[in-house]
Amino acid sequence: AFLACFLLCCCQGKEGKRYVIGVSQCSEDIWRDKLNEELKTATFPEDEVSLQFASADDNDTLQIRQIEQFIKEGVDLLVISPNQAHAITPVVNKAMRKGIPVILFDRRTDGAYTAFIGANNVEIGRQMGDFVARQTGHRGSVVEIMGLKGSSPAADRHRGFMQSIAKYPGIKLVSLQGDWTKASGKRAILDLKRRQGADFCATIDYVFAQNDRMAMGALEAGVLGKRTKLCGVDALPGPEGGMRLVADSVLSASYIYPTRGDLVLKLALNILKHRPYSKENLLQSALVTPDKAPLMRMQADEMNMQQQRIQDLHKKLDLFF
Ligand code: AHR
Repeated sequence: AFLACFLLCCCQGKEGKRYVIGVSQCSEDIWRDKLNEELKTATFPEDEVSLQFASADDNDTLQIRQIEQFIKEGVDLLVISPNQAHAITPVVNKAMRKGIPVILFDRRTDGAYTAFIGANNVEIGRQMGDFVARQTGHRGSVVEIMGLKGSSPAADRHRGFMQSIAKYPGIKLVSLQGDWTKASGKRAILDLKRRQGADFCATIDYVFAQNDRMAMGALEAGVLGKRTKLCGVDALPGPEGGMRLVADSVLSASYIYPTRGDLVLKLALNILKHRPYSKENLLQSALVTPDKAPLMRMQADEMNMQQQRIQDLHKKLDLFF
């Protein structure tokens, strides 16, 4: 009985409050799966938080409808990763007008919001540009594959990358449009081959894809030369993640795009409980190269194991009740 009482107190929180948080994800992919898992495990033990997830499958209309539904249900707070900034702005503004606090994470809109949490994507682009410039000896043929048009990380990473590359007139840059999916990375390179020919593709020195999945799609196209190197962004841990691809030298580099669902939830609770919080919350990230990847992967695996242990505990608690 004591244990039951203790666990009940832990799950209900000190004030016995229950908050409903609507999480609107723009799409489904392994980066977002990791973030969703972190959000779920971070709910324990301080407060009882009910998380309602909706995934828009890269579709603006669907995401708007899902956010409208959350507003109608009267959730206490919204956590939103907007698919395309411009399209999602009005519905986020609407939630704000209705008094529902909105945390934007990873991607931004053009309008009002309560707080933003995510990495500095301009800086990521800039650092990847510097890295590619160093690796090519500041000359050569470089291809950039951008993420979904109109999504803020795509625009920001491109801006940062251009700022670096523009310093080196010896680098010839071609920027291609992708949409964050692996298939779009493959498509972009095959389109390039159709337009510029096989020889052009075989002599590309570097491909910077704005995420690791698109980099792998570009590789899968099978038209890049032996000397072509690839780098991406995300550097996720786990068997399919970019961290392993860098450790195995499939990619020359990646950049950790932090998820940190625990901090997203902490920010949400600070807002809900009227505690002090910052409007802009920039998460730390880092360049991953093959020399650093094995150690970073070990650390990431350890963190994953810890998270798994927390998830297992959650499952046991659910069973208990
Ligand atoms: O919004 C940015 C991108 O979204 C990540 O880098 C990507 O992999 C995710 O799908």
